[in-house]
Amino acid sequence: MKIYRANILFTPTPKAFEVIEHGYVAVDEKGLVQGVYQQLPDSLQAEPVVDFGDKLLIPAMCDLHVHAPQYRNQGIAMDLELLPWLNTYTFPEESKYKDIRYAEKMYRRFVRDLWRVGTMRTVAFATIHREASCLLADLFKQAGMGAMVGLVGMNRNSPDTLSNSVDEMVRDQKALIEHLQGQDLVRPILTPRFVPSCTPEMLTAYGKLAKEYNLPVQSHLSENRSEIAWVKELEPESTCYGDAYLRYGLFGQTPTLMAHCCYTAGEELRLMKKHQVFVVHCPTSNCNLASGMAPIRTFLNEGVPVALGSDISGGHHLSIFQVIQYTLQISKLKYADSQGQLPFLTLSEAFYLATKSGGSFFGKVGSFEPGYEFDALVIDDNDLHIDNYDLPHRLERYTYLGDDRQIVKRFCRGQEVEEPRV
Ligand code: GUN
Ligand code: FE
Repeated sequence: MKIYRANILFTPTPKAFEVIEHGYVAVDEKGLVQGVYQQLPDSLQAEPVVDFGDKLLIPAMCDLHVHAPQYRNQGIAMDLELLPWLNTYTFPEESKYKDIRYAEKMYRRFVRDLWRVGTMRTVAFATIHREASCLLADLFKQAGMGAMVGLVGMNRNSPDTLSNSVDEMVRDQKALIEHLQGQDLVRPILTPRFVPSCTPEMLTAYGKLAKEYNLPVQSHLSENRSEIAWVKELEPESTCYGDAYLRYGLFGQTPTLMAHCCYTAGEELRLMKKHQVFVVHCPTSNCNLASGMAPIRTFLNEGVPVALGSDISGGHHLSIFQVIQYTLQISKLKYADSQGQLPFLTLSEAFYLATKSGGSFFGKVGSFEPGYEFDALVIDDNDLHIDNYDLPHRLERYTYLGDDRQIVKRFCRGQEVEEPRV
């Protein structure tokens, strides 16, 4: 048993933080939380305590949508909308990951940077390349950080340098599944890039794999108006963009993440609710690529699950704390835009999306309730809380003004995670 003492904050529900000033959390040998306490129970009195003093102890961040091979393009090239942006900047960069040495250099930095910003669970797009995708998975495993890694399928409207055939995708996908057997911290996820990149044959093959291997699925949905219009042309039989995934078995038949959903409404919203498909909200990306403002309050009202994603390099920064800021700010613009009809999100709601809601895709992750895997950050915000703020205000201030310098310890599944070597 390990016992940690600190100022504990987490969100069992979106409504409010559970706050335990100078409280204790007990973590068992499997890395699972036994309980949080204001006072240690008698049964634990004899255990040694690791005391983090006045620091904050919070669940670690979960990034449910990020493109690892867009690492080099972070913070640049945001002067185009989605479709020309993909062709001009993104596809040429991803093509480079055929070269395993380039992939290793970049993927090592990528995983190290996730560690820095306090993201201990990541769902990542890799590329079409088998070797590089297996390597990315290995780097997460070596680091001791939880992840789902997606080898990407794309066989139409893609450059020759970044296309795979259906047979190649299936062969390489099976190789990745095989590569990851025997442990469950890092897992594969089926990753058709999006409908415009995948022929009906490709989507059919993905649906079969999902069923045969019972694997989760991730893709993009209703991000941008031109994209939606294009999908209508490509899949005229579908009642909406989401239905184009549903009819191939890729929309909730197994656990499913759909990034963006800026324009999801009506039938598509109904299908997401019915099949419990996750919206992965990527507000930094939606700003940078001028895509739109996703109706997160509506999704929450309807009972559609929502998580957060950095979407590097549509998004410019890996920190999910920054994504929380943008989530709050965009929800306020949406509030203003709707004449107050859509109440803006609170800090605890946005924090919940980044921790317990996103974490639920991995199992019992993202909270400190009993039985949850202990994924945690210790934050020394001494240089930020000059004025004796209460604990929720300290966390708010860290979210807006802090960075990796204040994160002094990171845990994933109960184990302390050291800085990965680049
Ligand atoms: N849609 C298809 N591919 C991508 C991508 O790489 N980034 C974003 N933001 N949207 C996409
Ligand atoms: Fe994306």
